[in-house]
Amino acid sequence: MDNFVFHNPTRLIFGRGQLRCLRTELEPYGKRLLLVYGGGSIKRTGLYDEVMAILREVGCQVFELAGVEPNPRLSTVHRGVAICRQEQIDFILAVGGGSVIDCAKAIAVGARYDGDVWEVITGKGQATGALPFGTVLTLAATGSEMNPSSVITNWETRQKLGWSAEPYTYPAFSILDPVYTFTVPRNHTVYGVVDMMSHALEQYFHAADNAPLIDRWIEDLLRTVMEAAPKVVANPTDYEARETLMFCGTMALNDVLSMGTDGGDWATHAIEHALSAVYDIPHGGGLAIVQPNWMKYCLDVNPARFARLAVRVFDVDPAGRTDREVGLEGIERLRQFWTSIGAPSRLADYGIGDEQIERMAALAMRGETIGHFRKLTQEDVAAILRMSL
Ligand code: NZQ
Ligand code: ZN
Repeated sequence: MDNFVFHNPTRLIFGRGQLRCLRTELEPYGKRLLLVYGGGSIKRTGLYDEVMAILREVGCQVFELAGVEPNPRLSTVHRGVAICRQEQIDFILAVGGGSVIDCAKAIAVGARYDGDVWEVITGKGQATGALPFGTVLTLAATGSEMNPSSVITNWETRQKLGWSAEPYTYPAFSILDPVYTFTVPRNHTVYGVVDMMSHALEQYFHAADNAPLIDRWIEDLLRTVMEAAPKVVANPTDYEARETLMFCGTMALNDVLSMGTDGGDWATHAIEHALSAVYDIPHGGGLAIVQPNWMKYCLDVNPARFARLAVRVFDVDPAGRTDREVGLEGIERLRQFWTSIGAPSRLADYGIGDEQIERMAALAMRGETIGHFRKLTQEDVAAILRMSL
């Protein structure tokens, strides 16, 4: 294992009825609160009314930023920062999925930055602080509720960039009640499943030579998600299955699965971000298309690693076959599983052809190469995108 320090400061408040904790969680902060939410799902589900009732009860003066888009945009972040400055906001509460939370993180940092927060996101400037913020999660997917990452799209330049500014971008608290995920539509439920599995897979392809516990945790997380996902697809109000997915989503990307490793590969995510920057498709949909092709492209780097995954997670029988053959069957089974729950498998499923492949490959790059397990050049990325057509 590599040396490591683990410190995750987010208070995770999990389970049925836990929204009631919002009252005490807000106690340490001032009363001028910015409520950040998406395109209206929280109004349709009644969560907005529940949250507002608590905020009124504790005497908050509430300002609102509504309409955060999936793949949240810099322009929306700017609107939020302007409200924070103008209204001297004390605390930000994000209620929604990963997009809403990521947007709130950028607003929190932007409100305490003397300049345009895009400079921080692109790494040209350093965060100088942040407003405190908390979250109420409504969609199991990104892990943003308990990690310091945020992903923001600059629609003008078509850049979709992941960034973080620790410790400022960890939520102070996150409230996770699986009941609030009952209403997530089938497609977004599936994208969430793909996303959390992809996070586990990205971290599985690490370079540490002795991380047996991390390897087993990742394998078991994948198996657990694969057990729960079909139940949720068949019955969206299956509490236990929703609960399992929500817990897995958080654990898949809250730094736990990277303890003692280099953090994993993450090229698939860089490629997907370029894809959704150009075509504005859902993150999990893009991952379902790209990930198995990345795996095939990188299989020969370490066939034994892929064979282990195939046997332990996808129950492939290794008898009498090479690691490469076993690994390849594991990749096929991953694809089959995602298809079985309704995930897309080709760019054509979104009507995407080969017109912008070079542009996407260029956008995916941050430096000469991306990824750690195998360092991919821009040509490699273009090849993986072509495999995904
Ligand atoms: O906008 P509203 O009306 O709320 O509707 C949302 C949205 O249309 C809807 N939804 C959410 N909760 C719901 C619900 N509908 C009914 N009932 C509910 N309870 O679902 C749609 C998708 O929401 P979104 O927040 O976009 O989904 P997700 O949580 O998957 O977030 C995706 C974003 O996170 C980024 C992605 O790139 C993408 O921009 N990521 C963030 C990461 C992080 N911060 O660590 C890591 C990830 O790898 C990822 O890149
Ligand atoms: Zn992701």
